[in-house]
Amino acid sequence: MAKLKVLYTERQIQDRLRELAQQIGQDYQDRSITAVVVLKGALFFAADLLRLLPNPVSVQFVELKSYAGTESSGDVRIHYWQEEFQVGGRDVLIIEDILDTGITLDFLVRKVEQMGARSVRVCCLLEKPARRRVAVQAHYVGFILSDVFVVGYGLDYEERYRNLSYIAQLEDGPGPA
Ligand code: IMP
Ligand code: MG
Repeated sequence: MAKLKVLYTERQIQDRLRELAQQIGQDYQDRSITAVVVLKGALFFAADLLRLLPNPVSVQFVELKSYAGTESSGDVRIHYWQEEFQVGGRDVLIIEDILDTGITLDFLVRKVEQMGARSVRVCCLLEKPARRRVAVQAHYVGFILSDVFVVGYGLDYEERYRNLSYIAQLEDGPGPA
């Protein structure tokens, strides 16, 4: 049985989300936000955060798979892309679970820019700055992590633990991703 060490409780997460929502609300004023939610990890984060935003919000989903296991530059593939995915002329807020190497987000930001978004910003629940391999910036970050592997609140290890209401370190898990 894997050992879990709680890093952020449900309460801490929800408190931080309120701060993020306030900041986002201030930055966007009364503009509409097109949220692009990266599945599956950002599922709960997006559901909770978007309900706290005062702005008009539309929601679109994308599922990406990153194959960065080898020491290559990493290869991102679109696994699922909503058919009516529309970002042209919109103010897009990408909502992602974790910014790790940056390969996934770099791919998505470029894609959304190419599709003619008016603006693109990134909101991540977690960030591991030590592991960055690609220069991509998140405008809104929930919590900064050191190089540990975490699960819960959307994040998985082999599809498990997503439904935990807190974020925990998997102590005897895969180690750093
Ligand atoms: P990146 O392209 O390396 O930034 O990949 C980010 C993706 O890797 C995230 O969307 C997660 O799916 C996965 N990932 C990175 N670190 C962790 C972790 O600590 N726990 C669970 N998934 C992780
Ligand atoms: Mg993910």
